[in-house]
Amino acid sequence: MRQRVLVVLGTRPEAIKMAPVILAFQNQPEIEAIVCVTAQHRQLLDEALAVFGICPHHDLDIMRTGQTLGQITAAVLNGLTPLINALCPARILVHGDTTTAFATALAGFYLNTPVGHVEAGLRTGKLDAPWPEEMNRRCVDILADLLWAPTEAAAATLLREGAKPGDVHVTGNTVVDALRLVTNRIAGDQELKCRLINRLPQLSPSRKVILVTGHRRESFDGGLAEICRALNQLADRSDTEIVWPVHPNPKVIETVRRELTARDNLHLIAPLDYLTFVVLMQRAHFIITDSGGIQEEAPSLAKPVLVTRYETERQEAIVVGTAKLVGTDGGRILAAASELLDDPVAHAKMTHRPNPFGDGHAAQRIVSGIVARNTRRGVRAA
Ligand code: UD1
Ligand code: UDP
Repeated sequence: MRQRVLVVLGTRPEAIKMAPVILAFQNQPEIEAIVCVTAQHRQLLDEALAVFGICPHHDLDIMRTGQTLGQITAAVLNGLTPLINALCPARILVHGDTTTAFATALAGFYLNTPVGHVEAGLRTGKLDAPWPEEMNRRCVDILADLLWAPTEAAAATLLREGAKPGDVHVTGNTVVDALRLVTNRIAGDQELKCRLINRLPQLSPSRKVILVTGHRRESFDGGLAEICRALNQLADRSDTEIVWPVHPNPKVIETVRRELTARDNLHLIAPLDYLTFVVLMQRAHFIITDSGGIQEEAPSLAKPVLVTRYETERQEAIVVGTAKLVGTDGGRILAAASELLDDPVAHAKMTHRPNPFGDGHAAQRIVSGIVARNTRRGVRAA
């Protein structure tokens, strides 16, 4: 008897990190996987899904420019409730800490449908850092009965908080699976690689590329402007080339355009599709970011990461030395970046460490875990 699993996702990182799971379901005849996107993100989500050839079965199409967290939560609850009622899935899967994940888990809970959480157990311990993600992931972990922790530390956190040991499984992070799929594809297709390089701005081979991204809500009140202050100074150097694919959040675009001084070695570009972004990461000397996913990907590509946050739930990267927390103080960012530019020993120390976030087989572990759990408990059939 096939079991129906409803996979719900809404943003770019959820698409990239759930793609390997959705693809793994395709080789699992016991499971009928139905994909629903909330489209909390629109263009970013569509681009990420297209890279993996995934066409959702259902699309709630909720994105509105400048949407509030309350509006996203309400729209997901209102859109998903009738869908869950119609589909009667045996289980719902959510990923990470977005408002889509939180509202979906809540919708599942209200309808008495079991929820599985991919990337469970990440914590900073501070409810407002990152905001609102720390609240989202804590709530999802309370609502879910299958908790896939990417690392031993995340599993230990869940157990400390009272999760049942049988519900917690260490799988690795599926982003390592996604990255491996994409890097293998690029490495095996020279023509594709050339096409992807052509999508990037012209980058001088004699300059060191600093890749930048930033989008966290808690940085809108001054942090993002401080990052720009540091970048203006880094761009004064003749040996740097700065590339920032800017997140489409209007608040990010407005700050970045206002604070950064235009010059030929500073490229503000539109968000890149995942394939092209991976090529840019490969080309970078180091990365300055507040992104969760990039902190997890960079060790696989041997790229140092300066994390423009004061807390990270990805402590493993700090411990192995591939990432450094630099906060959003312009002076601190400039000092750490200058060290990576000028001191090859400091740069080398942050590279060539094993990726602490996974081995590229997380998706298969998750899918096998679902099959095992469904077989043990018996579930509503599709
Ligand atoms: C969301 C997640 C965050 C995740 C990030 C990944 C929440 C609360 N936040 O933040 O955890 O790290 O996605 O990028 O769930 N926009 C577009 N097109 C898009 C996507 C966004 O125009 O394809 C614009 C819209 O104006 C939208 C705004 O960006 O209102 C913000 O999007 P939203 O999903 O609310 O928050 P993010 O900052 O993207
Ligand atoms: N990414 C991408 N194109 C870009 C910027 C990022 O494909 O222009 C990828 C990146 O490699 C990572 C994911 O998007 O896999 C991270 O998304 P984001 O930083 O928006 O969210 P977070 O990880 O912080 O939740």
